[in-house]
Amino acid sequence: MIEVESLTKHRGAKTVLDRVSLRGAEGGVTALVGPSGGGKSTLLRCLNGLESFEAGTIDIAGHRLVAGPHGGLPLDHLRRDVGMVFQQFNLFPHLSVIDNVTLAPRAVLKLPAEEARSRAVGLLDRVGLASFAAARPGTLSGGQQQRVAIARALAMRPRVMLFDEPTSALDPSMTAEVLDVIVDLARAGQTMVVVTHDHSFAKRAATWVVELAAGRVVRQGTADELLHERRGSGGQEAAIA
Ligand SMILES: Nc1ncnc2c1ncn2[C@@H]1O[C@H](COP(=O)(O)OP(=O)(O)OP(=O)(O)O)[C@@H](O)[C@H]1O
Ligand SMILES: [Mg+2]
Repeated sequence: MIEVESLTKHRGAKTVLDRVSLRGAEGGVTALVGPSGGGKSTLLRCLNGLESFEAGTIDIAGHRLVAGPHGGLPLDHLRRDVGMVFQQFNLFPHLSVIDNVTLAPRAVLKLPAEEARSRAVGLLDRVGLASFAAARPGTLSGGQQQRVAIARALAMRPRVMLFDEPTSALDPSMTAEVLDVIVDLARAGQTMVVVTHDHSFAKRAATWVVELAAGRVVRQGTADELLHERRGSGGQEAAIA
């Protein structure tokens, strides 16, 4: 489902991704970990066609991305199949929760209003927010808004979901409700790549862990092989073994 081969990206004189190669199986959850500035977000943005790169290839959800500007590639096709959830949820404040979720399926997939609506109702139920359909995003907590953002991405039925530190903008009290949704998705077989500093979460959800540092893959393996927790369940206190 995901195959990255020798991906290299420069920013000015700096090499931010240096011959990165990795694979993600269908139904697998790949956790990207590693120090700040290591290139995790950049890699995720390359996977979604948000960034171009100078060398290597990316095969994802049946699409091939090659080096250079992606002028020739129909990125809207890629983004139908590859959904992304960011730190900041970026919901439309003037639209109700359900209209946020139905917007792209109606505009991009041309789903009839009723079908988009019933799909959205099902997804809001799945993330525990069925009763918030008519609310404006600004009246929801951060954790609730992030769950709406997840429902919105899922509404396109993407083959791959990308998450960039989905809980780092949230109070600790709201982190668990979002991570539980992601763990449920993992159990349901959704193929995902998740950038996270939370190693206890990675242990719960990830089938494969890739550690990036200074633009390179420095280690990869199963969560049990790569991650250990120093103390209790505090994800932030866990460290690479
Ligand atoms: N828009 C940008 N312009 C210039 N340099 C950038 C830009 N975004 C990222 N970088 C640089 O690219 C490198 C990789 O950054 P990236 O954001 O991918 O790291 P990260 O692993 O996601 O870090 P963090 O854990 O802090 O989110 C860093 O050296 C960073 O300074
Ligand atoms: Mg980042």
